[in-house]
Amino acid sequence: MINEDYKAMLGGKSVIRTLSEYATARGAEIGYDNVFDYSLGNPSVPCPPDFTSDVIDMYRTAEPVKLHGYSPSLGQPAFCETVADSLNRRFGMDYTAGHIFPTTGAAGALAHALRAVTKPGDEVITFAPYFPEYQPYVNGTGAHLTIVPADTENFQINFDAFEAALGPQTAAVLINTPNNPSGAVYSAATLQRLADLLRARQTEYGHDIFLISDEPYREIVFDGGTQPYPAKFYDNTLTCYSWSKSLSLPGERIGYVAVNPRATDAELIVPMCGQISRGTGHNCPSSTMQLAVAKVIDETSDLSVYETNMNLLYDALTSIGFDVVRPGGTFYIFPKALEDDATAFCMKAKDYDLILVPSESFGVPGYFRMAYCIDTEKVKRSIPVLERFAHEVYGL
Ligand SMILES: Cc1ncc(COP(=O)(O)O)c(C=O)c1O
Repeated sequence: MINEDYKAMLGGKSVIRTLSEYATARGAEIGYDNVFDYSLGNPSVPCPPDFTSDVIDMYRTAEPVKLHGYSPSLGQPAFCETVADSLNRRFGMDYTAGHIFPTTGAAGALAHALRAVTKPGDEVITFAPYFPEYQPYVNGTGAHLTIVPADTENFQINFDAFEAALGPQTAAVLINTPNNPSGAVYSAATLQRLADLLRARQTEYGHDIFLISDEPYREIVFDGGTQPYPAKFYDNTLTCYSWSKSLSLPGERIGYVAVNPRATDAELIVPMCGQISRGTGHNCPSSTMQLAVAKVIDETSDLSVYETNMNLLYDALTSIGFDVVRPGGTFYIFPKALEDDATAFCMKAKDYDLILVPSESFGVPGYFRMAYCIDTEKVKRSIPVLERFAHEVYGL
């Protein structure tokens, strides 16, 4: 008998994927150059040349049986040690290799982190606007996802709503900074307040509340800033990372969970992730990828194009008359739509071949997301089209 739950999910296809497929089909009709496709968060810059040459070198020189053999179930020791050293150096942490678990991207990291610290029926809290895939990620664990309404002033945390939502049923809190879709970078003050509140509630409820910190955009921060490291603020933190965006490797499926050494049962969580893998059939990411990213651990792609694109779009949108919070990082911007119904707004934009993602699936009505991981030249060409759309349809 087929599973009715997964069958029912077929009706709820990702809005982002649907729009991206539409953009590709439209591109086949009118030329993809003429479609201003702001739908998908697929990096637009190549991985660093060092990464490519290291991979080629490894394939040429390493002993094939060893290189392509099974990874140890808790990861290649060289990978785990290199990641731990890099995090310690950059963020003043004291991870050892035993606190690092390699995963298939951030999605794989979240799948393990969520299962390690919740059981079916528990509550996981996250904050709007949020990455829509959090819903299936959490549903798949049997836990329940509660959404705290957005702080639309600056897309930090709406603490009044958060304090009201937290309760004895809360097992974990899931944050994403820098944030997809708002581009907000949580400040040290936000993280400090979050940590203080969680510590107080842990004491009050007499159980741990884990912070799961999803950080695939950690390296994409603008204006020369950096993302304060959430695990520095709160001991019970599981950090989920991926090189999908920073090294432009989303198809390679490589990331990790880092367990704060001060977390409850910190020494058990990575071995537990190994057990979770047995049930999910995940196992480790490819050995080659683990070894290859370890060789370029402190490098990134040239990420500067995202800041260039953000500045162009932010300036254009504000001068057109959009209400928009300036992103601190990522490659997303999240302006207010020009009518309350964001889906209707994005449908009208499609007539101008502007592919914008309505905000409902991010848990906030009335906004839209633009993923500006596209060529700067195309961003520039899209600006007069945005102006025409806003003028002709909304009189701006
Ligand atoms: C906020 C957020 N979390 C997780 C993921 C999944 O990342 P990965 O491709 O590394 O699995 C994404 C991908 O876009 C994302 O935006």
